[in-house]
Amino acid sequence: MLAKITSAAVVGLDSVPITVEVDIASMGLPSFTIVGLGDKAIEESKERVRSALRNSGADLPPKRITVNLAPADLPKEGPAYDLPIALGILFASEQLNKQDISDSIFLGELSLDGSVSRIWGILPCAIMARDKKFKNIFVPKDNLDEARIINKIKVYPLKDLRQIFDHFATVRKIKPAPAKKQQFKNVESDEYDFENIRGQESAKRALEIAAAGGHNVLMKGPPGAGKTLMARSLATILPKLSFEESLEVTKIYSVANLLSVDNPIITSRPVRSPHHTTSHIGLIGGGNVPHPGEISLAHRGVLFLDEFPEFPRHVLEALRQPMEDGHVTISRAAGSVKYPARFSLVAAANPCPCGFFGDETRNCTCNPGAITRYQKRISGPILDRIDIHISVPMVRPEKLTREFKSESSTVIQKRVQAARNIQLKRFKGLKITSNAEMNNKQLKQFCNLDQQSVLLLKQAISKLNLSARAFHRVIKIARTIADLEGSEKIKSNHVAEALQYRPGTDN
Ligand SMILES: Nc1ncnc2c1ncn2[C@@H]1O[C@H](COP(=O)(O)OP(=O)(O)O)[C@@H](O)[C@H]1O
Ligand SMILES: [Mg+2]
Repeated sequence: MLAKITSAAVVGLDSVPITVEVDIASMGLPSFTIVGLGDKAIEESKERVRSALRNSGADLPPKRITVNLAPADLPKEGPAYDLPIALGILFASEQLNKQDISDSIFLGELSLDGSVSRIWGILPCAIMARDKKFKNIFVPKDNLDEARIINKIKVYPLKDLRQIFDHFATVRKIKPAPAKKQQFKNVESDEYDFENIRGQESAKRALEIAAAGGHNVLMKGPPGAGKTLMARSLATILPKLSFEESLEVTKIYSVANLLSVDNPIITSRPVRSPHHTTSHIGLIGGGNVPHPGEISLAHRGVLFLDEFPEFPRHVLEALRQPMEDGHVTISRAAGSVKYPARFSLVAAANPCPCGFFGDETRNCTCNPGAITRYQKRISGPILDRIDIHISVPMVRPEKLTREFKSESSTVIQKRVQAARNIQLKRFKGLKITSNAEMNNKQLKQFCNLDQQSVLLLKQAISKLNLSARAFHRVIKIARTIADLEGSEKIKSNHVAEALQYRPGTDN
């Protein structure tokens, strides 16, 4: 007998249906073979399926069992096929009666005792199932919350193999789980509230602008000035994720296997802070079986690179293309995959190896050559892609010890959210959600400048030697500053403030 069960594979961030064909023949010696470009986990599936069937009270018939995973030319990985293989055996051996299950998708890893365990990549599979008009999806119960973000498809949570046997033997039907509405929130933290940051008013203002428009920031200043503190606090003022953004981000985390039962959906903007020793693959993505890197895990959120000049040059250079395009393409022998990587870069750097170059209170002990070399570690093209450059001076001790608390993150987040709401409205129907993402055409459409602003920009181009890219970035920042003020028009004071954040001006 031949049985066909539909399952799914994850390719990049998308999913494709996989047909699991199980054939049981009486002729020949008893055997159990799986074909169809499976990896080691799929090869080992045989052992799990064998034990799981036995421990659930079913049989693995002593016959010639052949399993084919089609399409055969697509490499497949992971243990998600255990469940469809076991189910296929139950049908092909006629332990279950034949019935039409072509409108259902089955995914799950089996333990030896027959229980169904959590797997990664459920969300893309659920999205594919809905898009391809499947009616039902059977998933491990620990993946339930991840699967039921998607509506218009019935999600059946599975505890063990016995349960699915009873379901198709119509002994006891499994109830599909109802859809669940998600709550989106922003990050709250006592430790990293803006009210704990003393002084640094201009840096805080710059971070507010960055959060509102999704811009990139470089903070430069001596050690102990509060750069790390401020970057970490940024998470508490970011705008809330929208539902669509949350789906995009959750898909990446699902494929990277970073979701858990307690945290099945990403509901706030991610902030990633990889160390400078993180490998190229860890940061950018890749590997034999391609995996999203930190830049993709920071999608729709913040990538914080502390001690920026310490990152290897080739890693920093690899950031250029994703910073421009909002995605990264990883090529492998088996084909290329594209991961989204639309993040705000927040970088922190000391001005020189000792950290005190340009400091008012302490003398720099580095020789001029060392300072130049240190600063050159960040190439011009990277600096050009950073919208906001701020210097973070040391805060005077008397200011640090003052009891007075500054504005709280809650208050700042409200302003940021209001500015982001204006952007969401502006870009409705377009693929973008923030000012930082505007292309040149959108820039023209949404950023009208008055004469005074144009004049100001013209002067700045010659004085600051602005590249075309930097010029566009200044206008985007001015757009965000105007949005924070609730001003439809970009005025010259907005442009003037935006220009302050370019390197080369005194800030
Ligand atoms: N402006 C500030 N307000 C409050 N605390 C600060 C400030 N600047 C620095 N600190 C404190 O000093 C320590 C060092 O700050 P950190 O952010 O690590 O500095 P940096 O990254 O610039 O070297 C932290 O414990 C931080 O809490
Ligand atoms: Mg630091």
